[in-house]
Amino acid sequence: RARVAILVSGRGSNMAALIDAAAEPGYPAEIVAVVSNRPNAGALAVAERAGIPTAVVDHKLFPSRDAFDAELDRTLAGFTPEIVCLAGFMRLLTGGFIARWEGRMLNIHPALLPSFKGLDTHRRALETGVRLHGCTVHLVTEEMDAGPIVAQAAVPVLDGDDEASLAARVLTAEHLLYPRALALWASGRARLVDGKVVVDGPDEPPSPF
Ligand code: GAR
Repeated sequence: RARVAILVSGRGSNMAALIDAAAEPGYPAEIVAVVSNRPNAGALAVAERAGIPTAVVDHKLFPSRDAFDAELDRTLAGFTPEIVCLAGFMRLLTGGFIARWEGRMLNIHPALLPSFKGLDTHRRALETGVRLHGCTVHLVTEEMDAGPIVAQAAVPVLDGDDEASLAARVLTAEHLLYPRALALWASGRARLVDGKVVVDGPDEPPSPF
């Protein structure tokens, strides 16, 4: 089983979905640590209740991004993870940090990339009038929200949706998608070929929405 550390900044519902999935027999990864850049992130208490070791690297205590990332790296090293999952981790990481974890760091983004990179994805999806929206798990590369796509799930945008209702529909899909994508990557079924992800074996189930 691959050793996985999860980086969080907030409530940690995607983290919880990964922890729950990893508790199932046969899941190809184990969650060995949860690290937050915010001392008061709700995710920390959720992880502790699940018996997962936690750590805080408070970005406010560091003079630069480099200094923060160096401490984050040291903290992660103490847990000897093989894969790092960003789950609502809201800090930009430096190129050096990303390079060290290249091919071993996943992120979940609340949109169908390459549409709606960055923040406020649900508001912008509604403003644009797309009829399908969703979420993406991708490998983290230096360019934000642009790394190779491991898995995506689509949800409809319904007439009358507001930001909250659309976010909730996407979040439900995120909680199914991230554990599936991590399993693909951790097991080696998904791998990079010419900068794109290919998945060996039977097709993944289509998006349930
Ligand atoms: C999730 O919707 C995740 O996709 C998003 O933040 C939320 C975190 O919720 N991530 C980003 O926007 C990354 N830029 P959670 O803490 O309950 O998992």
